[in-house]
Amino acid sequence: MKRVVLFKEEEIERRVGELADELNKVYSGKEVVVIPLLRGGVVFAMDLVKKFKFPVEMDFLTTSSYGFSDTTSGNVNILNDIRTDVKGKDVLLVDDIIDTGKTLLKVKEFMLSKSPASIKVCTMLDKPSRRVEDIQPDFTGFKVEDLFIVGYGLDYQNFYRNIPYIFVFEKEEGEE
Ligand code: IMP
Ligand code: MG
Repeated sequence: MKRVVLFKEEEIERRVGELADELNKVYSGKEVVVIPLLRGGVVFAMDLVKKFKFPVEMDFLTTSSYGFSDTTSGNVNILNDIRTDVKGKDVLLVDDIIDTGKTLLKVKEFMLSKSPASIKVCTMLDKPSRRVEDIQPDFTGFKVEDLFIVGYGLDYQNFYRNIPYIFVFEKEEGEE
């Protein structure tokens, strides 16, 4: 398998900087609870939070979607809740990618039941052609085609999340 790079490390850094500028304007004068979704959202979220100029609380939430496919089964469960009381606070959910939208819809509804002042969603990637739920990210890095994407938090069988660029695997000639 060969790697075809979609977004180089420098492109990602530039885009993350732009997103941080945007978020610094939106949340100027506010305190925000930033919640990366484990595990995919962490790499992106850690680059992003370092550029925030407003006060940040961080907490983490784990979802699981049962099934063995590469993408979500649609049966999304909250495995580990946050410990922060977000009532009356501004919440920013951060994930690697929004695909069908099932994960973020479920998490957003779950968070809304905790009565935050606001809740917004930021994803590094958006695969709009795959969406089945009526949810759009409030902030997103790049829109992508319907391809299986790896790197920068996105895994293939739990590996490659640490790769600093975003790529797809392509079969080489003669490969099964
Ligand atoms: P959704 O619930 O369908 O929006 O899917 C969200 C989750 O599916 C993401 O947080 C990823 O973990 C995973 N996912 C969706 N598309 C890809 C992909 O192209 N590569 C790797 N993981 C993906
Ligand atoms: Mg994920």
